[in-house]
Amino acid sequence: MIKAVRGTRDLLPPDTALWKFVDETARSVFRAYNFQEIRTPIFEDTQLFARGVGEETDIVSKEMYTWSEEANPEATLIGAWYTQSKPKYAASAWETRARGQHFEIDMRGESEAFLVELRSKFNPAVVERLRARKDRWPTSHPDSKPPLLIVALPRREADKIQWANLNDVVIEMLDIAEHEPGQRLTLRPENTAGVVRAYIEHSLQSRGLNKLYYIGPQFRRERPQKGRYRQFYQIGAEVIGPPSAGSESPARDAEILELLATFLGKLGITGWTLQLNSIGCAKDRTRYNEALRKALEPVKDKMDPDCQRRAVTNPLRVFDCKVPKDQPIIEKLPRISQFLDEPCRKHFEHVQEILKSVGVPFTLNDRLVRGLDYYTRTAFEFTHGALGAQNAILGGGRYDGLSEELGGPKAPGIGFAIGEDRLVLALNKSAEEMQPKPDVYIAPLGQSMDREAARLARELRQKDVIVELSDESFRLKKSLETASKLGARFALIVGENEIKADAFALKNLATGEQVSVPRTELIERIRTKP
Ligand code: HAM
Repeated sequence: MIKAVRGTRDLLPPDTALWKFVDETARSVFRAYNFQEIRTPIFEDTQLFARGVGEETDIVSKEMYTWSEEANPEATLIGAWYTQSKPKYAASAWETRARGQHFEIDMRGESEAFLVELRSKFNPAVVERLRARKDRWPTSHPDSKPPLLIVALPRREADKIQWANLNDVVIEMLDIAEHEPGQRLTLRPENTAGVVRAYIEHSLQSRGLNKLYYIGPQFRRERPQKGRYRQFYQIGAEVIGPPSAGSESPARDAEILELLATFLGKLGITGWTLQLNSIGCAKDRTRYNEALRKALEPVKDKMDPDCQRRAVTNPLRVFDCKVPKDQPIIEKLPRISQFLDEPCRKHFEHVQEILKSVGVPFTLNDRLVRGLDYYTRTAFEFTHGALGAQNAILGGGRYDGLSEELGGPKAPGIGFAIGEDRLVLALNKSAEEMQPKPDVYIAPLGQSMDREAARLARELRQKDVIVELSDESFRLKKSLETASKLGARFALIVGENEIKADAFALKNLATGEQVSVPRTELIERIRTKP
């Protein structure tokens, strides 16, 4: 049996009702804060994450799903096949040139056999395109055995065609749609880099401050366990724009954090802790990194090899080391809070003042550096006790230099991503209860009643009544049992007598009470909650 791949899972009903509840609550909160949705591709150029998230991070160095896309597969195929087949057709006079995407075979003599085989090697779509194109070329040639030029081109090349026409050469085009250079691609491990790429690519700075949100899958090759998956889902948001649009304001940081508290509140999630830190501006980070290097120099040899490397290449990442024996060393390292310059410290204080004024509680944690390289200044995580080891329900922070790092304009930003899988685990709600139940189960009774039942179902559904429709082959007993199993509130019986009277037997499945209700009153009766 083929099973879902390790670290991935199927989300099934009734659990999907919890996911829908979370998604819909998120969308309504984003609406209230005037955010708009963005959807970026699920895979991107690997370089985006290497440069954006950082080569030394766990995500980029160990956890990405990356593959290479061959340069134009059709051209590669033709080239390989040609090299193989050449000895077989050695008698032919031909000439070939293969330069990157551009592949030509110029043949005389045994061209037919060659062409037949060539065609048989390529998929029907390629051959079809070839035929369609050939029909448009002049086919009558005075020469019964014209020279034949097979051209596999990224696109039509006018000079080739002209040359062929002038010389009475029949030209067969293997149309290679577009030049596609080889590329390294990666399934997105997170969405901030993709959003910033889109911001740069579409010049979103012209819109001023962008308040964007996304909901979707992300991929990291981590060791799977409860709350940690290889395909997981994030609900995230980014506030990004030119400084003139207020993107650097501490008011934006505080607004994001207050939004998160509101969202968790609406989901009924309590018992969370907001861990807050400032990891400094670029200049502070340089000074801090130097201090870390210095502090690590005498002790780094005692550390795990991974941490040793980080101590030299990117000392901030030492804080991500999980090896227990390294923890006492990490505990004694200098803290970023001692390195913040005046404007940075002011920014952080301002964020805290607003949070206090709107009543969002927080805990300062100057060990919190986050596992991605793009962060500057405000960094945060919300943790939740119910989640065990994977207790970070969400994380985020500022990334004031990321746009420039990716070749874009100055565009400070702040955002977060919530682990939706973990959020659903922390929900104190029963999936069964969240799952909407049918208002009414329609039971057609007797021959030709399917048609009548379908008409009635259509009428009710158009008025947003949730209808489950049975079929005339079911006996009444089976229909009523099914209706109860589905948790329907009413069963509606559609038989010949009902159709004649234009009134239907409506059975309340909780009380067992059954009444005859005229068609015109059905909606009202069904809508009235017991
Ligand atoms: P992150 O801390 O890497 O940040 O991920 C955010 C959240 O995604 C985590 O707190 C966790 O709840 C969830 N998460 C991460 N990995 C997994 C996993 N393997 N299985 C289940 N859940 C997981 C980011 O991704 C940043 N892009 C957040 C951000 C947005 N910063 C600024 N803007």
